[in-house]
Amino acid sequence: MYDYEVLIIGSGAAGLGVALRIADRAKVAIIAKTRLQECSTFYAQGGISAVLDAQDSIESHIQDTLKAGAGLCDPEIVHLVVSQGRECIRWLLDKGATFTEVESEDGEKHLHLTKEGGHSHRRIVHAADATGREVETSLLSHAKTHPNIDLFEYHNAIDLITANKLNMGPQRVMGAYVLDRKAHRVLTFRAKSVVLATGGAAKVYLYTSNPDTATGDGIAMAWRAGCRIANMEFMQFHPTCLYHPQARSFLISEALRGEGARLLLPNGTPFMQRFDSRGELAPRDIVARAIDHEIKRLGVDYVYLDISHKSAHFIRSHFPTIYSRCLEFGIDMTREPIPVVPAAHYTCGGVITNAWGQTDIDGLYAVGETACTGLHGANRMASNSLLECLVFASQAASDLKRRLTDLPAPPKLPPWDESKVTNSDEEVVVSHNWDEIRRFMWDYVGIVRTDKRLQRALRRVEMLKQEIAEYYGHFRVTSDLLELRNLIIVAELIVQCAMRRKESRGLHYTLDYPEADYHHPVQNTVLPSPFSRQKKR
Ligand code: FAD
Ligand code: SIN
Repeated sequence: MYDYEVLIIGSGAAGLGVALRIADRAKVAIIAKTRLQECSTFYAQGGISAVLDAQDSIESHIQDTLKAGAGLCDPEIVHLVVSQGRECIRWLLDKGATFTEVESEDGEKHLHLTKEGGHSHRRIVHAADATGREVETSLLSHAKTHPNIDLFEYHNAIDLITANKLNMGPQRVMGAYVLDRKAHRVLTFRAKSVVLATGGAAKVYLYTSNPDTATGDGIAMAWRAGCRIANMEFMQFHPTCLYHPQARSFLISEALRGEGARLLLPNGTPFMQRFDSRGELAPRDIVARAIDHEIKRLGVDYVYLDISHKSAHFIRSHFPTIYSRCLEFGIDMTREPIPVVPAAHYTCGGVITNAWGQTDIDGLYAVGETACTGLHGANRMASNSLLECLVFASQAASDLKRRLTDLPAPPKLPPWDESKVTNSDEEVVVSHNWDEIRRFMWDYVGIVRTDKRLQRALRRVEMLKQEIAEYYGHFRVTSDLLELRNLIIVAELIVQCAMRRKESRGLHYTLDYPEADYHHPVQNTVLPSPFSRQKKR
């Protein structure tokens, strides 16, 4: 039994953010599925949105966010998050993060602010094109030296332990079962409070910008524990990922378009103005759909993104990571356009939380991409995600500080029971099912949907769900199996939410209802968990 006051599942900006803000008051464990820095945060490129320019205003950032969210944002949450931008950047600077600067005419240095789709001002703070690496390494270096924080890498949370599951009084969280991947054994972590900071679920799609960790584990664990999940139909596809047979999951930042890059058809013709007067800087859903449309219309594999009209010096200094990665594949972006395609990028939906990051279960918090706070509505605006991670980390930590002494210590917990399972004799089932889910989600539940495609997807979900449950019931857990079990739940939640939305709005586009429905009140797609009353595992 591992005993902590706070167990944080996830070591990205959200998890580290909570840990560093609470660790002076509580003993904290952070667990991560693989290496500590292997997470979406590390790969973030464009930056963090914050109102810092004298010409900009909080109100303008709020309006841009609401507009991108297509009527589904919670205005109070948008206000809460946007108004803390400056403070979050200051906190990161205090933690040693350094961001790109420019010198003004009077010789003073200021943070350079770049631009991205949907933003009506320059307001993106960045560390060249590797902002996430800067944020993650700075926060991690503090966490590693903090005496109250213990870090466990290669530890995979399996399920939350709750009072309901154990029949132990009113519903609350008590800890989690965790697979130690190196020792191949399941540990019991006992904690007064658990923070889900597990990131998104874009790995449920065949093509994604996300690292392998993004399998929606927090969403699936919360769902199995009885939490409500919302807005899973709003999966964001980033318009521009590098198209190359050997380039796995490499993003070409929206900041390129912010600095003037143009999208071109294979014959060199620009096309975005045909779809939106904002051209390349229209919100992501519009740009991704336009590219998808042109790729399908012309029967080509990709379109081009071209910034070669800018000076080579500008390109190399603003986008050093992208420049060198492209060069590894023989593409010199200072002289030629980059082949790009859309790919699954960001999970707008997730575990429903309030303004303090609290979920439906007492003591259980969800922070970062795994949560659905109301900030993004039907479409997240670029660079609002890291901001949300940092703001909600602070909110959850403040709430925890207030509540920790009142949260009761959990009782002794039963160890993981392996008495009825054996080692698998058919690992191929796991890898086959992984591939199948990701393929049908891409084909049937992707950028453009129809009722028929969703029904096809649902039939496959139901069949695979049964097969995976059977497999899980018979064999010892492995990391791949745990992720597969979570992926099928995430797939089901996305399909179920998409089926309920009989309109096209934000990131959800269906040929059967191509317009937004302005006659009925706009609502979030909330799925109550069927496990909310379940007593035992
Ligand atoms: P993550 O950073 O993904 O961390 C998740 C953590 O949870 C990992 O440590 C993982 O190991 C752990 N975990 C997951 N499941 C388990 C489990 N079962 N057991 C134990 N641990 C588990 N947003 C912006 O605002 N600006 C950007 O410029 C930007 N660029 C991006 C570029 C790329 C390529 C990508 C992929 C995303 C980008 N985003 C950007 C989105 C943003 O990076 C993410 O939304 C954000 O970093 C999520 O942070 P997080 O802490 O919630 O999750
Ligand atoms: C990018 O750099 O294009 C990603 C920004 C984001 O996802 O917010």
